[in-house]
Amino acid sequence: MKTILTGDRPTGRLHLGHYFGSLENRVKMQYDYDTYILIADVQALTDNFNNPKKVRDNVREVALDYLAAGIDPKQAHIYIQSLIPETSELTVYFSNLVSVPRLFRNPTTKFEVAQKRELFGNEGESITYGFLGYPVSQAADIAGVNANIVPVGEDQLPHLEQAREIIRKFNNIYGQTFNLPEAVLSKTPRIKGLDGNEKMSKSLNNCIYLADTPEEITKKVMSAVTDPNKIRKDDPANPNVCMVYYYHQLIKSPNVEEVCSECKKGERGCVYCKKELARNIIEFLKPIQERRKYYENNPEEVEKILKEGTEATKKKAEEVMKRVRENMKLDYFE
Ligand code: TRP
Repeated sequence: MKTILTGDRPTGRLHLGHYFGSLENRVKMQYDYDTYILIADVQALTDNFNNPKKVRDNVREVALDYLAAGIDPKQAHIYIQSLIPETSELTVYFSNLVSVPRLFRNPTTKFEVAQKRELFGNEGESITYGFLGYPVSQAADIAGVNANIVPVGEDQLPHLEQAREIIRKFNNIYGQTFNLPEAVLSKTPRIKGLDGNEKMSKSLNNCIYLADTPEEITKKVMSAVTDPNKIRKDDPANPNVCMVYYYHQLIKSPNVEEVCSECKKGERGCVYCKKELARNIIEFLKPIQERRKYYENNPEEVEKILKEGTEATKKKAEEVMKRVRENMKLDYFE
């Protein structure tokens, strides 16, 4: 059975963008692969080192969202990154195999560096060693469980390419140790926001969270961007430029074809259409929120799931590290 590793930084609750961009896919894949899902608290700290409480609180939120979305703890190991010190050790060995200019050339890192310079000025003070190196630690996450497959969104592809380079180099120098991991891109890699932004993202403040209440969902949907050329409710419009129609398609509203044809003919007002979408999203999220409620009310069960997932991962990482130390001639007293 092949091994999957993927995960998220615990910096906030998960939203519909995560659901359609990755969670749905993970739920399907968990039955056919040995699946590891990491809550990347160490990586979250590279950006949030001065806010440990935020990271700690969100470990729990992300775990709840995973379980709510349908990650089955009998199928997948959900684990906390910081509790696998083997990954930190591997990060140190990997850091010899990548040059600093190469780290700066990583397109995702480059984008984040530009963002930081914009926020904090140009002195580079905000670009820490830990931040610049997080793709190295990500490579160690992947190699630490000897994963074959890494299902990720588009923005993570540069990190995966970098991980492959490091792993290839390691295998060349120290002998075949790791599988060469492959990225699997989700079919719906990037979910647009209701505001028409290319991305649903916390920083853009345009998210529908899996745990949003019906009132929050309705309020957000009512402010969605529709065809700007449609002024009156019986004007014909173009559903392909309307975020409401986009979301009707995304969540597979049962009457999605009707929505399209009525909109084109001017037989569907936007307020009506939005109310219907809000109801459908609420309905869509109902089983997810029911599972979330269950786990919120049973925190000791969530703790047990995280503990067992972490123990299973640690066992695997220990096996992998034993081989690493042998191959690097670090097995002193064996
Ligand atoms: N970088 C990912 C994110 O920002 C989280 C992550 C950490 C990850 N380590 C990983 C993803 C290893 C895939 C594989 O969400």
